[in-house]
Amino acid sequence: MEKTSQRRSTKMKLALLLGLIFMPFARPTSSATQNPELGELKSNLKTYIVHVKKPQDVASLRNEDLHSWYHSLLPATAQAQNQQRMVFSYKNVASGFAVKLTAEEARVLQEKEEILSTKPEETYSLHTTHTPSFLGLQQGLGLWKDSKFGEGVIIGVVDTGIQPSHPSFSGEGMPPPPAKWKGFCEFNGQRTCNNKLIGARNFVKNSTLPVDPPFDQVGHGTHTASTTAGRFVGNASVFDNAKGIAVGMAPNAHLAMYKVCGFYGCTESAILAAMDTAVEDGVDVLSLSLGGFSSPFFHDSIALGAFSAVQQGVFVACSAGNSGPDDASLSNEAPWILTVGASSIDRKMVAMAKLGNGSQYEGQSVFQPKDFPSTLLPLVYAGANGNESSAFCAPESLQNVDVKGKIVLCEQGGDIARVVKGKEVKDAGGAAMILMNSEAEAFNPIADVHVLPAVHVSYVDGLAIKNYINSAMTPTATISFNGTVIGNPLAPEVTSFSSRGPNSASPGILKPDVIGPGLNILAAWPVSVDNHTPPFMIISGTSMSCPHLSGIAGLLRSSHPDWSPAAIKSAIMTTAETVNLGGKPVLDERLVPANVFATGAGHVNPIKASDPGLVYDIRPEDYVSYLCGLGYTDRQVGIILQKKVECLEVKSITEAQLNYPSFSIQMGPSSQSYTRTVTNVGPGNSVYNLELDVPEGVVMSVTPRQIIFTRVNQKVTYSVEFTPLAKKTRDDDDLEFAQGSLTWVSDKHAVRIPIAVVFQ
Ligand SMILES: *[C@@H]1O[C@H](CO)[C@@H](O)[C@H](O)[C@H]1NC(C)=O
Ligand SMILES: *[C@@H]1O[C@H](CO)[C@@H](O)[C@H](O)[C@H]1NC(C)=O
Ligand SMILES: *[C@@H]1O[C@H](CO)[C@@H](O)[C@H](O)[C@H]1NC(C)=O
Ligand SMILES: *[C@@H]1O[C@H](CO)[C@@H](O)[C@H](O)[C@H]1NC(C)=O
Ligand SMILES: *[C@@H]1O[C@H](CO)[C@@H](O)[C@H](O)[C@H]1NC(C)=O
Repeated sequence: MEKTSQRRSTKMKLALLLGLIFMPFARPTSSATQNPELGELKSNLKTYIVHVKKPQDVASLRNEDLHSWYHSLLPATAQAQNQQRMVFSYKNVASGFAVKLTAEEARVLQEKEEILSTKPEETYSLHTTHTPSFLGLQQGLGLWKDSKFGEGVIIGVVDTGIQPSHPSFSGEGMPPPPAKWKGFCEFNGQRTCNNKLIGARNFVKNSTLPVDPPFDQVGHGTHTASTTAGRFVGNASVFDNAKGIAVGMAPNAHLAMYKVCGFYGCTESAILAAMDTAVEDGVDVLSLSLGGFSSPFFHDSIALGAFSAVQQGVFVACSAGNSGPDDASLSNEAPWILTVGASSIDRKMVAMAKLGNGSQYEGQSVFQPKDFPSTLLPLVYAGANGNESSAFCAPESLQNVDVKGKIVLCEQGGDIARVVKGKEVKDAGGAAMILMNSEAEAFNPIADVHVLPAVHVSYVDGLAIKNYINSAMTPTATISFNGTVIGNPLAPEVTSFSSRGPNSASPGILKPDVIGPGLNILAAWPVSVDNHTPPFMIISGTSMSCPHLSGIAGLLRSSHPDWSPAAIKSAIMTTAETVNLGGKPVLDERLVPANVFATGAGHVNPIKASDPGLVYDIRPEDYVSYLCGLGYTDRQVGIILQKKVECLEVKSITEAQLNYPSFSIQMGPSSQSYTRTVTNVGPGNSVYNLELDVPEGVVMSVTPRQIIFTRVNQKVTYSVEFTPLAKKTRDDDDLEFAQGSLTWVSDKHAVRIPIAVVFQ
């Protein structure tokens, strides 16, 4: 998604982490009702999320009884009127409901003994052919073989709906879902769409209409669902680019779609309802390519819903957000979630900007017309009139600028989708667009389905083109299109938009956890943009990287059915790569080595994740000690746990003491000691030796330095002490942050965890 200027607004804004292409259509919808009589009352009603003290006998309650009990708690004014005030009842991942209330009613409700909290929901604004082989997945080998392509696993996707007839979701040759499956499809009265797409529900409620079938009008959900578990589809491409066989990460896993977003955004009440239903339906993995900005976990419906899902053994993967490269720009920061950042793959859709003086600059575009002339055309800078909105090629900003038949240089930014800039150039009569990156996005141009011949170039190349325009008498240019080029040795690179740590909600937990493919990803789409059938689309975002990881988690669930969600996560993190295809450290958009707040543990390596040697497991109750250690009140912890908690009675732990497969140390003047426990999931007899990359500015002491295992599933605890070096003895006395790693190495495995140290 394009960066939005209001991203640090205090409102928790859910960004469907796509944006890109569809931002232009994501107009805010008016909340005005169509019924004038109810207009005044309705406009005062807001949807509140209400958490209640869980009734003791909830397990035995029928859904209708629970619903009636929730209803009985409502203020009389909300009960009396014969209106549909209740929006959703929650049972599994939260105790409570979503209800339409006036502010006064909410205040009255909040005072009830049974009520833990009420808050108005946020109306959130909306946040492959090649990736399997890039990630080393091959037919008949390794993880795809061991997991039988994810057979028997159910992946739930919470998104914009799905296009069920797409061949990526064909049921041909798929076995029926496991017996535990309780979900269903809401398309034309059939309970099951097919054995691939086994569930599809719509939680987008529009009070003026009955619930629609969960079709995907946006495209995002069809794309993410096919990335996580789409089947093999031949001859996929977009405008002839990225041609090949499209396939998801876990092609034999079953899929269930839970629709919670439309063009207007995703509502928090619907997301919670989707997670509540998915857990009851029996999904093994949940994939959420959406999220809000940082918020305490008891206040963040995704964190809260994910907590109970993980307690029940469901693996939850979420996108990290598209608000990079700024620091502390993450979504979905809870330690029980796998938080996924985005990286590039080794595939580019190359277009070249060629200037009249002979220089040429490489960039990207998906739309690559074959008939664009190689003759030089006049070249102009859109912002030559000194107007910033013209420089950004904002809608209607070129109406009085002479761009007819010319190539127009536009600047990236200004909160305007890249494709929309091209549309403005086209509408104003321009022949083509050169889009120069912003300074922050640097060397990370993105391939888009532009509406005219275009090329997106880096910031420095853009500056050179601007210089040329300013210095040449009659500046001219053309664009040539080279098509798809595979084999970039710098891949994977962290993308500019991928959100960065540190973690604001819990600074003692390093986030993101891992990065995966999220730039220029081809996957299924509801409609064709180039008359190609079946339709595919290429888009970018952490929305695209999340389903890669949820699919890989599905493969691991299938090959290691006994692993907990925390063990699967550990396996993914401790085996992640820190070097690119060229064997050099992974870079970021500036082409400098990316730090751990950009990469987390590194770039996912699914083959290695299937055989990690050791795992850092976390028992469900450990998260309770962690939550109490965060300093939340008993009531706040109780909202997340759905039960009464007395933190004084719980053995609290500090954040860094959670058995997490990374360290995030807030370093003050004194030493800090922690333990970690590793479980042997490799050969019974194994010897591991310590390898330390000690962060600058601290001394680390680890005991023991060798671990000898004699059996499978044996657990061994080691301790780590971090001691700050005196400021003056540090090389850099302004040091704010340092990073390193701790690796246990055997003859077969290297189990690495990253370390971040922030000096206070
Ligand atoms: C609800 O339906 C009406 C009528 O089709 C439409 O105008 C409105 O945008 C819809 N609202 C949402 C939130 O989808
Ligand atoms: C791809 O398309 C070509 C030509 O249209 C056809 O011959 C071939 O069988 C197709 N391949 C697959 C895997 O569908
Ligand atoms: C810049 O252009 C926009 C769009 O044409 C216009 O609304 C705005 O007033 C202009 N600003 C200045 C400072 O001229
Ligand atoms: C073309 O002009 C740009 C900007 O002045 C300059 O950086 C580049 O070196 C020039 N190319 C050639 C071949 O002179
Ligand atoms: C693209 O094609 C041009 C020739 O038209 C060539 O000079 C250039 O090196 C090519 N670029 C890439 C990245 O393949």
